[in-house]
Amino acid sequence: MKILGIAGSPRKNGNSTLLLKEALRSAEQEGAETELILLREKDITPCDGCWTCFKTYKCHIKDDMQEIYQKLEAADGLIIGSPTHISSVSSICQAFLERSRCLIRMKEEDEVFVHSDKVSLLMGKPGGSIVTGRRRGVQTALEVLNFFLLMHRMVLTHAGVAGFCQSTKPGAIKDEDKYAVEMAAELGRAVVTYARKLTADRTGSVLEKA
Ligand SMILES: Cc1cc2nc3c(=O)[nH]c(=O)nc-3n(C[C@H](O)[C@H](O)[C@H](O)COP(=O)(O)O)c2cc1C
Repeated sequence: MKILGIAGSPRKNGNSTLLLKEALRSAEQEGAETELILLREKDITPCDGCWTCFKTYKCHIKDDMQEIYQKLEAADGLIIGSPTHISSVSSICQAFLERSRCLIRMKEEDEVFVHSDKVSLLMGKPGGSIVTGRRRGVQTALEVLNFFLLMHRMVLTHAGVAGFCQSTKPGAIKDEDKYAVEMAAELGRAVVTYARKLTADRTGSVLEKA
């Protein structure tokens, strides 16, 4: 079983990445194989709003997101982390969220696009969200990530982790908010528990059926 971690911090050794690594560490302890993708090392441009993915199920932008689509499809569960930036997720994380849009399967009915029955390539997979911040707007950022998971009809395994850290030093959260570190470990365990149950129920790739 493979759990994929997506790190949205633009900083090296960021607080949100630290919590995400803790979640993946505990997922590994539960027997999962894990992989961490650092969005800061990837070239991912924002969605250009061309809408062609409604019909093609593919994004025409040729950048590192193409490789990430394959990893998302192969994963049995997903944990995503981001810092709070102006009460939302970081820009690199937002670009990732927008570009995931092409994984949603639409069909045309009476000249209007509606969700197909399978909804998303990620449908039925378990997911969890992690955000860090200093104080204001952290919950709003967490809701952006939880919305992303729900939009893909993923299974929200946990209300999510909100870590608080006043220091601007990367990684300072491990001293300032030990509870968030424990919660991240709990989230990692929850995603694996759900992945075990849900992977057995999933009927395979939507792409194969499209
Ligand atoms: C551009 C920018 C905007 C930020 N906006 C907020 C904010 O709205 N609310 C907040 O609580 N913290 C805010 N912060 C603080 C970061 O969320 C906080 O330092 C976080 O722990 C950084 O996580 P990271 O180390 O994973 O990047 C902001 C930081 C930056 C650089």
